Amino acid sequence: MPTSEVRKFRTIRGLRDILPPETELWNLVERTAHEVFTTFGFSEIRLPIMEAANMFEKGVGEDTDVAGKDLYFWVDSPRTNKGIRRVRAVVKRTEEKVSNRNSLARETLIQQADSGSFDTLAETDLVALRPEATASVCRAYIEHEMHALAQPVKMYYSGPMFRRERPQKGRYRQFYQIGAEVLEAILPNQDPAKNIGKDAAVDGEVIEMVMALFGRLGMEGVKLEINSIGHNAPDCRGGYVEKLKAELEKVKSQLDVDSQRRIETNPLRVLDSKVKEEQDVIEMLPRIGDYLCDDCAKQYAEVKRQLEMRGVAYAENWRLVRGLDYYMRTTFEITARGLGSQNAVCGGGRYDGLVQSLGGRPTKGIGFAIGEDRLILSLQEAGKGGTAQGRDVFVAWMGEKAQATAIAAAQKLRAAGFRVELPPVEQKFGKALGQADKLGARYALILGDDEIATGQWTVKTLADGSQATMSETQFLEMLRKSL
Ligand code: HAM
Repeated sequence: MPTSEVRKFRTIRGLRDILPPETELWNLVERTAHEVFTTFGFSEIRLPIMEAANMFEKGVGEDTDVAGKDLYFWVDSPRTNKGIRRVRAVVKRTEEKVSNRNSLARETLIQQADSGSFDTLAETDLVALRPEATASVCRAYIEHEMHALAQPVKMYYSGPMFRRERPQKGRYRQFYQIGAEVLEAILPNQDPAKNIGKDAAVDGEVIEMVMALFGRLGMEGVKLEINSIGHNAPDCRGGYVEKLKAELEKVKSQLDVDSQRRIETNPLRVLDSKVKEEQDVIEMLPRIGDYLCDDCAKQYAEVKRQLEMRGVAYAENWRLVRGLDYYMRTTFEITARGLGSQNAVCGGGRYDGLVQSLGGRPTKGIGFAIGEDRLILSLQEAGKGGTAQGRDVFVAWMGEKAQATAIAAAQKLRAAGFRVELPPVEQKFGKALGQADKLGARYALILGDDEIATGQWTVKTLADGSQATMSETQFLEMLRKSL
């Protein structure tokens, strides 16, 4: 194919490359999360990126955006997967029709087009890219019988999530979360009412932990909002939702189409609306705090007391209902500076029924997920960008004999933990020093005939141009002291 016809590939819409030196900041954030979370007794869990699609529908809720319209899913079956070569003919036929869609949707379409009928497909043939990880952590807790371990089980994770949302600043189709979950099996004779204080302390500690991480990272303008959405019973959230629905029907004409639809599908989500014209109407609606049952009200009061004891500042927001179905009681969200409209940098809450709804035993759960992309954006806006990885030493060598010495020197320096650039071919010293400068090296180690003959190294400090002769041991000593 002539070069002019070769297509230039670009990242798919809503996906992006994260390049150095920004990746330095990502590493720092992930390292710090690991350090802080381990001091709270959490261990890392690594989860697959694909799961059965219906696990998310069941876990997160099929009427939610996350597990509904935004879910990336496809048919993964030997009956439909005919290999890329065979589907390419179908690609050609469908190219025009699907040219505006992303590659995964396109693959689904192609497979559908090629397979003709799905009559014989099983539920397990539908797989999805994970839109979040809480359901996966619960699935793993069940699958690996973690109820038999010392309770609670405290785990954290980090990695990419996928949602087919409309991309904008701080909102991507592949984004990264750092999350943590606490799971605890409920014993058969346990009286849930007796555990309200304990649960609230766990909620308090989980929130304290994420705030400690943000503090350690020097995040600016961090605000924590909390709420309780009660539990799913007629004398608690159930009663509230009925009342809310009735009130929403009365003001339906003043709401936009999305909110009107939600009156039927998920009335609580109307409270999430950011539509300017609806705000006055929403402010007049009944508030969940007035409908909580005694236990949920007690738990909420106790969570607030816990946060106060831990020195964690918060604001209450009765409209904080969150977009996933599994929550009950405590919900929270954290916003940070510099993010525009997508300013939620962390969301979380309690989800005591989730493990059971995925086929496990009665289990309590609470956790959060930080949007790492947004966290990084906020740090960058505050001037805390990643710095380019310079080199400690650039080894400038000339002559065949010098190469062996240069390789040995680089090996020793690297083994001692220093960042070393060793050019693959010899360079004139002037050129080598220019490259060392460009790479931000601190020292150039010059190895030529003289150095080989005397066994002494010539070391140039690039910042001031000074030069000295020294032994290998002296150079290592100098490096250790100066870096
Ligand atoms: P979530 O609120 O859907 O909760 O997401 C948590 C955070 O992920 C958000 O606050 C935001 O920072 C980030 N995020 C979400 N969608 C995007 C996107 N399209 N682009 C960039 N960042 C995004 C959950 O996912 C729950 N699993 C949290 C949780 C854990 N609850 C209990 N445990």
